[in-house]
Amino acid sequence: MPKVLIVGGAGYIGSHTNKLFSHSGFKTVVFDNLSTGYRRLARWGEFFKGDLANAADLARCFKKHRFDSVMHFSAFAYVGESVTDPAKYYVNNVANTINLLNAMRAAGVNKFIFSSSCAVYGAPASLPMRETLPFNPVSPYGRTKKMVEEILADYSAAYGLKYAALRYFNAAGADPDGETGEVHNPETHLIPLVLDAAAGLRKEIKVFGGNYPTPDGTCVRDYIHVADLAQAHLRALRYLGKGGASGGFNLGNGKGFSVLEVIKTAEDVTGRKIRVKMAPRRPGDPPALVGSAARARRILGWRPVRFKLETIIADAWKWHLKRSQAPF
Ligand code: UFG
Repeated sequence: MPKVLIVGGAGYIGSHTNKLFSHSGFKTVVFDNLSTGYRRLARWGEFFKGDLANAADLARCFKKHRFDSVMHFSAFAYVGESVTDPAKYYVNNVANTINLLNAMRAAGVNKFIFSSSCAVYGAPASLPMRETLPFNPVSPYGRTKKMVEEILADYSAAYGLKYAALRYFNAAGADPDGETGEVHNPETHLIPLVLDAAAGLRKEIKVFGGNYPTPDGTCVRDYIHVADLAQAHLRALRYLGKGGASGGFNLGNGKGFSVLEVIKTAEDVTGRKIRVKMAPRRPGDPPALVGSAARARRILGWRPVRFKLETIIADAWKWHLKRSQAPF
């Protein structure tokens, strides 16, 4: 069985990918320092507590296991925080990723799947967004993802690294079986906060900006189910295994929903009324981000299956209800 190292496998997207791989003929090892992840979410395969900042942890892990490939989910991802504390982002998201890549080189592992982001593109002039758009990040967070993609291209040219940089749009939803889901502290993402409001855990949802140049004035995003994202990792690894060329892939559904549409759908799914309060814009939010995944479809053969917003929110709601019974 091929063995895959899942760095950050105790986090949101990493835990779903760990589950999928461990059910798809892989042995998985999660490497995580549990700074933002949860041991309880790393419930498939083996667990190795380690820190990317510590080269000795990496060396021990690569000595203990012989990996065929590595996936890397362990980045900080609060855009606002990256503006106020960029050092935290450059150290973890960039420097620590270099540590990981160097540990892979030393161990002779050359297949890598990287969690990139649509944030590499910044605020695009036209939609839907394709991979031909220039990188133009507008936050330190986005710049860390751009920098790592550039490093990957250099490592690929010089050392033969085979990589796929998967540029997620808005990851959402939860494992359809309810075995893992989203747990962020603090939570800043729209759908879990809307569900908190539906559950009465917060009195209202604040809508950040009602005067954007969008059909209803609120921001438009492309929400993509986390289980579909996990599938893209499997496709990407198979593609690299067959000798596919390294590169970046946008992962979205190609359809955008406004903040108000998300709230309305959450009301329909939960059967609860959600109080809405209009609030000022959140600095750094692009008006609309919608991805074209035509390249991922064509080259990786990836097709999202849980693409309906109702499905995404229903899965997130199921997880939300389960979590409220056994809080983290
Ligand atoms: N929003 C609200 N109220 C809230 C929370 C969010 O109106 O309480 C709005 C935001 O302004 C935005 C939309 O809901 O328009 C989605 O916001 P999220 O915070 O859920 O997601 P983002 O689009 O800001 O962020 C996501 C990823 C980041 C990534 C970014 C790229 O979470 O990691 O996309 O733009 F960098």
